[in-house]
Amino acid sequence: MANQADLLKTIIAHAKEYGFVFQSSEIYDGLSAVYDYGPNGSELKKNIRNYWWKTMVQMHENIVGIDTAIFMHPTVWKASGHVDAFNDPMIDNKDSKKRYRADVLIEDYITKIEAKINREIFKAQKRFGTTFDEKQYRQTNQRVLTSIKKIDEIKARLYPAMNKNNMAAIKHLIEDLGIADPVSGSKNWTEVRQFNLMFSTRIGSTADGATEIYLRPETAQGIFINYLNVQKTTRMKIPFGIAQTGKAFRNEIVARQFIFRMREFEQMEMQFFIRPGTEMEWYHYWKEERMNWHLSMGIPKEKLRFHDHDKLAHYANAAVDIEFEFPMGFKELEGIHSRTDFDLSAHEKFSGRKLRYFDSETNESYVPYVVETSIGLDRMFLAMLTNAYTEEKLNDGSERVLMKLPPQFAPYKVAVFPLTKKDGLPEKARGIMNSLKNSFMCFYEEKDTIGKRYRRHDAIGTPYCITVDYQTIEDDTVTIRERNSMQQERVSIDKIAGIVAERLKVV
Ligand code: GAP
Repeated sequence: MANQADLLKTIIAHAKEYGFVFQSSEIYDGLSAVYDYGPNGSELKKNIRNYWWKTMVQMHENIVGIDTAIFMHPTVWKASGHVDAFNDPMIDNKDSKKRYRADVLIEDYITKIEAKINREIFKAQKRFGTTFDEKQYRQTNQRVLTSIKKIDEIKARLYPAMNKNNMAAIKHLIEDLGIADPVSGSKNWTEVRQFNLMFSTRIGSTADGATEIYLRPETAQGIFINYLNVQKTTRMKIPFGIAQTGKAFRNEIVARQFIFRMREFEQMEMQFFIRPGTEMEWYHYWKEERMNWHLSMGIPKEKLRFHDHDKLAHYANAAVDIEFEFPMGFKELEGIHSRTDFDLSAHEKFSGRKLRYFDSETNESYVPYVVETSIGLDRMFLAMLTNAYTEEKLNDGSERVLMKLPPQFAPYKVAVFPLTKKDGLPEKARGIMNSLKNSFMCFYEEKDTIGKRYRRHDAIGTPYCITVDYQTIEDDTVTIRERNSMQQERVSIDKIAGIVAERLKVV
């Protein structure tokens, strides 16, 4: 198995080779932090999106879905605070001319100290064997304590500086820590400046009459500005939610780590409208619900954790991330934010329209509070690939790579193979393919040896391979091979659809 450092590279190569993800505009040397999904990738992505929609909208009577435009009136982003506050601190190195996110340089520095602590613990674990008590070691070992103290001191300077937009304090911290450009080793830095992440373009045909508008950096605002339309047309009563999936755009300063941080990406967001004062109750409710959702996707518990925000976004009074253990460590996968009435009140003020809800139970009219769940579809996709990617040594000494995707998310559910290209086997296999393809995504293949075909489908995660052989001609039975166990069983053709449907059962 590739080590953690190489795992991301391995997954990127695998994703390209097997038609999951391609670099955008590759024939023109690519466009940084923009990616295209290939045939297998677009199926997997669609399956994740559909599952989210089913679990959030179809399974909740009080959540409805919408699909709003990417372009919105420019005042939306003034009201939401994105024009003034959707910034990242940016710093340039004068020698290498490379640009960095100043807070990320500091966080990377912290990660290095954490790695040092982990190395100490690993060494001690080896030395003390089964008697080793990690908690006690962390609390008593002098070197570990010094490192932990250093991390705490850095955080105590970084996060207040971020919250107060104190760029000079961030620059001082970089200098005090002696952080050098990771590429050139130079410490010749510019001042730290705020960089707004929104992309803008112009709408309208004439040069004078054209207006500057933004590509949405989050799908949430499309929900906020439609909240009354939706509430009135669906007659939803608080508490209720509005969900949507769609593209969002951010001009990220540091664009790396494959589809983890993209400039064009897809979000799946849900705004839950509630009575003021009940936000903490709902915040905790959605925190648990969303964690359970990730577990239901087949992600193991130990690869997920909560992380409270150290720096709150300009709209939130409480926020937590669900982090997944990506190849580059635990990183944000989803955010749950208590956004109070920040957005709706701001839209009331800027639009001059009332966005109140009349609560017939309390006889009051108020601006609802909102708890939001916001997940990046591309990050979820990367989490699924990371979790599913498996290299396996087989009993005969050979190796295989397989994608252990939960069957319902696999791009293809069934592959149908005739053992050979003659003696009526392809015709029989085509008949089976035609009888299944209305119900399942199926793939028909007759090229190469059967072993090679199995390997190809292991590598894209196809859970069931059906092989038509000479016995099929005699008794209308086929073998059905299960991807993970490689076990084959002989079943009659008329049972295939029922068996596959049973094994693919979802919520
Ligand atoms: N409406 C709230 C919001 O947008 P966020 O934490 O900025 O909150 C939510 O983004 C989710 O969107 C993140 O947890 C992440 O999964 C995804 N996301 C954010 N920026 C991204 C990027 N540049 N590339 C890929 N996914 C991103």
